[in-house]
Amino acid sequence: MTTISLAVIPGDGIGKEVVPEGMKVLDAVLKGTGVDLVTSYYDLGAERWHRTGETLTDDDLESIKQHDAILLGSVGDPSVPSGILERGLLLRLRFALDHYVNLRPSRYYPGVPTPLADPGEIDFVVVREGTEGLYCGNGGTVRAETPQEIATEVSVNTAFGVERVVRYAFAKAAVRPARHLTLVHKHNVLVYAGDLWRRTVEAVSVDYPEVQVDYAHVDAATIYMVTDPGRFDVIVTDNLFGDILTDEAGAVTGGIGLAASGNINPTGDFPSMFEPVHGSAPDIAGQGIADPTATVLAVALMLDHLGHQKAAQRVEAAVEQDMRTRVGTVSRSTSDIGDAIAEAVGR
Ligand code: NAD
Ligand code: IPM
Ligand code: MN
Repeated sequence: MTTISLAVIPGDGIGKEVVPEGMKVLDAVLKGTGVDLVTSYYDLGAERWHRTGETLTDDDLESIKQHDAILLGSVGDPSVPSGILERGLLLRLRFALDHYVNLRPSRYYPGVPTPLADPGEIDFVVVREGTEGLYCGNGGTVRAETPQEIATEVSVNTAFGVERVVRYAFAKAAVRPARHLTLVHKHNVLVYAGDLWRRTVEAVSVDYPEVQVDYAHVDAATIYMVTDPGRFDVIVTDNLFGDILTDEAGAVTGGIGLAASGNINPTGDFPSMFEPVHGSAPDIAGQGIADPTATVLAVALMLDHLGHQKAAQRVEAAVEQDMRTRVGTVSRSTSDIGDAIAEAVGR
């Protein structure tokens, strides 16, 4: 019997509401497959921080590392100063587990309400660098809280870090039908980091002659995401640009509640972590109205990553089927959507 040992971190806000739905679908898809699911739940997030002052202890981290994968809901709460949980929990996990690929696919399911008048076919994946850039915490402030304050955040881009994520993106593009890769950056202004990314893409492209490469400045890319999203296949970009672009990608393909992501450690040295792109949504938390589909699709990404392709496809097909029922229907609760997808997956 195969076993999946899964670390589950529901986190804060709607994370606690959408994770049970993802688990519901995971249980349903694994039923009768002979795959045994073993879970460990972690109470990380705002409540634990208030209670103990801890975000993620070394013991938590060591224990989480012992699993095959991690499913995370979302972290962040208005009662906790901004950045404490985001950096101390989420980014600490991404950095410590060397999740250098942040994989964020976007697909448009026909009929799903979208702000675009004519969405056309949308099927692209953003390969966002996950361990460098402006996220490194490389900065500081001097003369704090005076009129002379100077705050800096320095973006760190290493040749090693850029090349490994660019290689991953090329390999991904090479096996997709369109075989197209777009580098998104801002090398007209960020000349040092931009040039490193540009030269790296150029150098790696020699190994992938079948992949067609182009480039868009990030500001223009936000236009194309709305006016012509069908032009994108694989996008490779840095940590912050990828963060911003993927919220927009979620919005144009039917809402942030549909956007899933995988924080991947391609070497397999550490478990990869799967989560919705969205956050803890304090504005709707506790109402049972958050869309759990992003978390369900994160479960599909996880199954695919763990080598359970058939199960992953069954989850995606069940989501696709559920999407078709959404056209013109009244809105459903979080658990109604989870139940419907779990039922479809079991059929
Ligand atoms: P958010 O993604 O939580 O919410 C943005 C908007 O999208 C809100 O209007 C929210 O109601 C809506 N939304 C989000 N998920 C939804 C869902 N599943 N169904 C329906 N609507 C949904 O972003 P924010 O408001 O900027 O951040 C809130 C908190 O979450 C902050 O503390 C932030 O740091 C944190 N955050 C965490 C993660 C993460 O854990 N990966 C990601 C983003 C933000
Ligand atoms: C995301 C979030 C995180 C990010 C924050 C909460 C650290 O916005 O997963 O997209 O910026 O990566
Ligand atoms: Mn984000």
